[in-house]
Amino acid sequence: MKIVMVGTGYVGLVSGLCFAEFGFETLCVDKNQARLNGISKGVCPFFEPGLDDLLVKHLNLTKRFSLSNNLQESLKEANVVFITVGTPTKRLENEADLKAVHEVAKEIAENIINYCVVVIKSTVPVGTTRKIKEIISQKVSEDKFDIVSNPEFLSEGSAIKDFMRPDRVVIGTENKKSESIMQEIYNPLYLQETSIVLTTIESAEVIKYASNSFLATKISFINEVADLCETIGGNVLDVAKAMGLDKRIGEKFLHAGPGFGGSCFPKDVKAFSATAKKHDVELSIINAVNASNEARPIKIASRIKNRFNNKLEGIVIGILGLSFKPNTDDIRNSTSIIIANELYKSGAIIKCFDPYAMNNAKKVLPDLNYCNSVDEVCKGSSALIIATEWNEFKVFDLNKIKKLMKDPVIFDLRNIYNNEAVKDFGIEYHGVGQ
Ligand code: UDX
Repeated sequence: MKIVMVGTGYVGLVSGLCFAEFGFETLCVDKNQARLNGISKGVCPFFEPGLDDLLVKHLNLTKRFSLSNNLQESLKEANVVFITVGTPTKRLENEADLKAVHEVAKEIAENIINYCVVVIKSTVPVGTTRKIKEIISQKVSEDKFDIVSNPEFLSEGSAIKDFMRPDRVVIGTENKKSESIMQEIYNPLYLQETSIVLTTIESAEVIKYASNSFLATKISFINEVADLCETIGGNVLDVAKAMGLDKRIGEKFLHAGPGFGGSCFPKDVKAFSATAKKHDVELSIINAVNASNEARPIKIASRIKNRFNNKLEGIVIGILGLSFKPNTDDIRNSTSIIIANELYKSGAIIKCFDPYAMNNAKKVLPDLNYCNSVDEVCKGSSALIIATEWNEFKVFDLNKIKKLMKDPVIFDLRNIYNNEAVKDFGIEYHGVGQ
């Protein structure tokens, strides 16, 4: 069984290396030669815990993982071809941009020689997998390929675990032949009794968007409850804990904070709603989630500004964490970046630190002061914002922080610290929803 992944982005590279780990010969194809050069030296183009080790193992030791810039050649022996190219949100619309997916489909169509299964793993709007089938059918007879939807559920920071031990695998097919080939490549997961959901192509596409949108809804819901708690004197931590103990609700994704970010939730929520609108269906809940989340980091920044009577000119503010969540260097739709920009535009002098995301942040916010440590950020700051819950931000010496800061004020946007305990150190503490 030979597997080809088209696209060496986050999903393509993680999935390709995990299939190599399963024992399959895997080839990752990309047009970007500079990217391939880096990967072929054993360096991943982004930070994901454990991925560099997997890359070196399968590139150099098992040699089950290889790279190519030539899709035509790569397709010759492929049994399964995964399309894992990006589907960003279009600049002026809420729809996913399918240009890259369609281009790959056309190229596949021109080069299929032997039967293979074409799998759409990129997150695409409902109906796209059929559209890709149409594109390929224009050039290739239908006995030469089958089309499958197999959405990914990889979380950044825990992607390898998510692939190797998923809650479920979703496979949308049109016939038994492609279904059994897909079952074969996921066989190692069958052996560990993972739930494999075999369904139609359309259902598989909806499952992906409905899952992400539901999780996003949970986050926005608890964020709005946090706002209420702040005004009526409740504590969202207690509320979320008690809610989560109800097994029907579940404890996960009920952490109030600065809003959800990243490359998936904000984009998927918008695309889900846009697809529904095209079919004259209004997803009013999802629309509300999108609006609530877009407003959230701006609202948080306003609260911080209010603390300084909206006079930030010359005030030094420290920001810890720039990535959209811990264990990644990804700053796409990072609420930390949005908040940093808002405060900077209002005249604050921003000092910041992130263990991995600073190089990416410098590209979008070059005028911030990038520091080498938490201490450096704290020195002379009139407020410290904990924006991303990296582990190393969870064990501060609060006495030291107080001494280093000009004015000891902490905005803990991830509710890492205990309100009362911080106040005991003589530090002014602002959590979320407390
Ligand atoms: C998500 C999905 O979890 C994954 O299944 C999907 O395939 C891709 O999108 P990811 O974007 O990596 O993964 O991160 P995730 O851990 O889901 O967090 C998304 C955002 O929500 C982050 O900004 C995070 O800080 C925020 N979040 C998450 C909260 O604010 N509160 C929570 O309780 C959980």
